[in-house]
Amino acid sequence: MPTPPSPPKSHAPRSGPSRTPGAVPSRTKSSRRWLDRHFKDEYVQRAQQEGYRSRAAFKLLEIQEKDHILGPGLRVADLGAAPGGWSQIAVRLVGEKGRVLALDILPMDPVPGVTFIQGDFREGEPLARLRSALGDKPLDLVLSDLAPNLSGTAADQPRLIYLCELALDFALQHLRPGGGLVVKVFQGEGFDAYLKTLRRHFRRVVSRKPRSSRSESREIYLVARDLIAGAKAGGFVSE
Ligand SMILES: C[S@@+](CC[C@H](N)C(=O)[O-])C[C@H]1O[C@@H](n2cnc3c(N)ncnc32)[C@H](O)[C@@H]1O
Repeated sequence: MPTPPSPPKSHAPRSGPSRTPGAVPSRTKSSRRWLDRHFKDEYVQRAQQEGYRSRAAFKLLEIQEKDHILGPGLRVADLGAAPGGWSQIAVRLVGEKGRVLALDILPMDPVPGVTFIQGDFREGEPLARLRSALGDKPLDLVLSDLAPNLSGTAADQPRLIYLCELALDFALQHLRPGGGLVVKVFQGEGFDAYLKTLRRHFRRVVSRKPRSSRSESREIYLVARDLIAGAKAGGFVSE
């Protein structure tokens, strides 16, 4: 997958003269192409019009349309949440009786009703803060749109799969029996083993490639439902 040049710190669609492609003469050709495509993108434009912070919001909306994973009263963790598109949708759909906890290594502007924790999901301290925010009550749903900055080299895939494994481990520790996990995965080495592990822990697993996910991207979303009671964290292995 090509690496977007100098990915913006926040993925929020932005407007204004300083962000238009023509106004950044110092950028490289490929950088200008990326910006050009970004600003013409249907979902970037819709995100701006509909008040979503990211084009990624439409991926979750499409998954929701098919799988009805979010609903009133649910307790949800949103991993890799910034700039907050998924959190915006989750908090609306769980309503006042639900709860949304979000985590990202980047800062995120507050989303009303969402508890946000900034930190690296691979490290103990942010995880401990997330756990203490959860309290004793288990989660109904874990969402993971975690993705590191891509270098475009073979080193990307193991880093991606590692985050997916951590998300699964977290889900196995904090979901109630019957709970669900939606996780972004990249097809490639480690994917089949990951899918196999998910199928061991959840009764129903389907893959989704939303229309809003770029066709050239290897990303797909795995929607795992109905966690089998007694599934233990650390259950994944790179078989
Ligand atoms: C595709 S973006 C998420 C977009 C988000 N779902 C939305 O709708 O706005 C992936 C996110 O994963 C975060 N991320 C990557 N590695 C991380 C890590 N180790 N710990 C926490 N967040 C991480 C990135 O900072 C980035 O914000």
